[in-house]
Amino acid sequence: MFVARLACALLLAAAGTSPASGGGNPGNGQSLYQTWCSGCHGSASNNLSSVLNGANNSSLLLSAWATYSPMQFLQTAFPSETQPAADVAAYLGTVASRT
Ligand code: HEC
Repeated sequence: MFVARLACALLLAAAGTSPASGGGNPGNGQSLYQTWCSGCHGSASNNLSSVLNGANNSSLLLSAWATYSPMQFLQTAFPSETQPAADVAAYLGTVASRT
C-alpha cells in the first residue's frame, strides 16, 4: 500500500483515498507484479502487451494466464491463483487510474 502511494506521489497523482479494488491488496499486487510480470510487461504504466486490461479484473488475468503460453507458468508459480490475481488486478487498477 505504501509503495503504491509512493508511486502515486512520484507521478504527482497523490490520491488521497485508496482506490476500490474488489478485495485485492494493491501493495502486495505491486510486489507480485515486479517479481512475476515486469520482466515481460515492463512498467505497468506503459501497458505493454495490454497488461492494463487486467486492471481491477482478476478474472481476465486468470483467463489470460490460462490462455497465453508465455504466461502459463504463472498457473504453477502461484500455489493459489485467486488472491495473487486479485492483488495484481488491484495494483493494475491503481496504475490505470493514473494514466
Ligand atoms: C514470459 C513473458 C510474460 C510474463 C512473465 C507475463 N506476461 Fe502477460 N503477456 C505476455 C504476452 C506475450 C502477452 C500478449 C499475448 C498476446 O496478445 O498474444 C501478455 C498479455 C497479457 C495481458 C493481456 C491479456 C488480454 O487478453 O488482454 C495481461 C492482462 C497480462 N499479460 C498480465 C500479466 C500479468 C499480471 C503478469 C504477471 C503476474 C504477466 N502478464 C506476466 C507475456 C508475459
